[in-house]
Amino acid sequence: MKFEKDILCVGAGYVGGPTMAMIAYKCPQYKVTVVDINPTRIAQWNSPNLPIYEPGLQEVVEAARGRNLFFSTDIEKGIEEAGIIFVCVNTPTKTFGEGAGLASDLQYLEKTARQIIQSANSPKIIIEKSTLPVRTAQAMERILASNPKGIHFDVLSNPEFLAEGDAIKDLENPDRVLIGSRETANGIKAREELIEIYANWVPREHIISSNIWSSELAKLVANAFLAQRISSINSISALCEASEADVSEVARAVGMDSRVGPKFLNSSVGFGGSCFQKDILNLVYICRHYGLNEVADYWQRVVDINNYQKGRFVMNMLKAMFNTLAGKRICLLGFAFKADTGDTRESPALFITKKLLDERVNLVITDPAALENAKFDLQGTEGQIDFVADPYEAIAGCEAVAVITEWGIYKELDFERIFSSMTKPAFIFDGRNILDHHRLFKMGFNVFPIGKPALTHF
Ligand SMILES: NC(=O)c1ccc[n+]([C@@H]2O[C@H](COP(=O)([O-])OP(=O)(O)OC[C@H]3O[C@@H](n4cnc5c(N)ncnc54)[C@H](O)[C@@H]3O)[C@@H](O)[C@H]2O)c1
Repeated sequence: MKFEKDILCVGAGYVGGPTMAMIAYKCPQYKVTVVDINPTRIAQWNSPNLPIYEPGLQEVVEAARGRNLFFSTDIEKGIEEAGIIFVCVNTPTKTFGEGAGLASDLQYLEKTARQIIQSANSPKIIIEKSTLPVRTAQAMERILASNPKGIHFDVLSNPEFLAEGDAIKDLENPDRVLIGSRETANGIKAREELIEIYANWVPREHIISSNIWSSELAKLVANAFLAQRISSINSISALCEASEADVSEVARAVGMDSRVGPKFLNSSVGFGGSCFQKDILNLVYICRHYGLNEVADYWQRVVDINNYQKGRFVMNMLKAMFNTLAGKRICLLGFAFKADTGDTRESPALFITKKLLDERVNLVITDPAALENAKFDLQGTEGQIDFVADPYEAIAGCEAVAVITEWGIYKELDFERIFSSMTKPAFIFDGRNILDHHRLFKMGFNVFPIGKPALTHF
């Protein structure tokens, strides 16, 4: 079959895989190939056990795979054949050298650019989908322009706004698709070609365009604003605990102001995930680079409050359980950074686990989708943690349960049964405020929500 367009995506991760699966699913007239340097990941994408857990993803992949969606390790061939290349490689926080701990590590992006010039024999549109520091497109253009074959490349910015756990919903029905381009004739032509792809299923009024730097920056700012709301309400949760106000009641009253809105005002153990912290730190780094230290300090505080909130959670456990946790069996209910994903990157669970191990807790971890990632993350702690899939089994014999991930199934658990299986006095620390605290208290639990008065039998 002759396809109308040949699309390639470099990077088969949490963004590249689902995004390309959606394009292939919605546009059978295009051939979509996803390549990666990691052969295990590609083998998983080609198998019934996809490398990531995401509601609805399996169905979308299975509908398009083998028809017009392909996963491969042959990066050279992919580049040679494609007219449009999405770059979805990872851009983690740098761990070495200048900017370590703040700046984005752009080595994977640069390697991809170099691979493109090595294998390309014809003009191509290169689309930055990875989240990048503002003005990265300029570096990308310069590397691509250095190709000795004189091939013309157009670089677009098309940041991805999907939220893990809701990726399929977000991709099918995005709030907006943002496309940044140069304002040249070639730039505008390339932008129109990308608009044409999305317009297959996204209403035109949801596809917006901007200059290329605004597009790069908008992604960082969008994540900074979302994380800032979480840190704002979490900072207030500490004040609520001190003053006997209830953070849910405060958030409800504040969120009903239509200028504020109710979303992202749930107080919790803190935000996690591979993006929020990384992107804010990157914003901080860029602001410092431009000498905007007040602006950098402002955004840094969003991350600081998040670390404070995670630390506070463990301190509250320690204080509530008579100032010693040593030798106590405690279960973490959930390890993923949020519900409906198996992703554990930067999960608050990692921080809490390390702190509890420092206190010599006898830990049990359970999660419906993230147990394998948790085991991988916690290598080197063998013998100190039990990983148990069944939550009832995990909690039996424990003195405390800490809700770390807001999985829907945890709200449905039989807590009478759980209470009877626990060592007394039994404690619940609800790091997501998802449980019915008064009901649990009546059953006999000592209940410690976030930002609300504790309910204790002492
Ligand atoms: N995860 C999210 O929810 C999310 C949302 C929006 C944007 N983003 C951004 O999207 C980008 C990708 O994130 P992710 O979560 O998909 O990362 P990921 O680590 O899951 O996937 C990146 C993939 O790129 C591959 N890769 C790296 N270098 C390569 C190369 N030279 N050639 C081929 N493959 C290569 C890696 O092997 C990996 O499989 C990041 O910039 C991230 O900030 C992520």
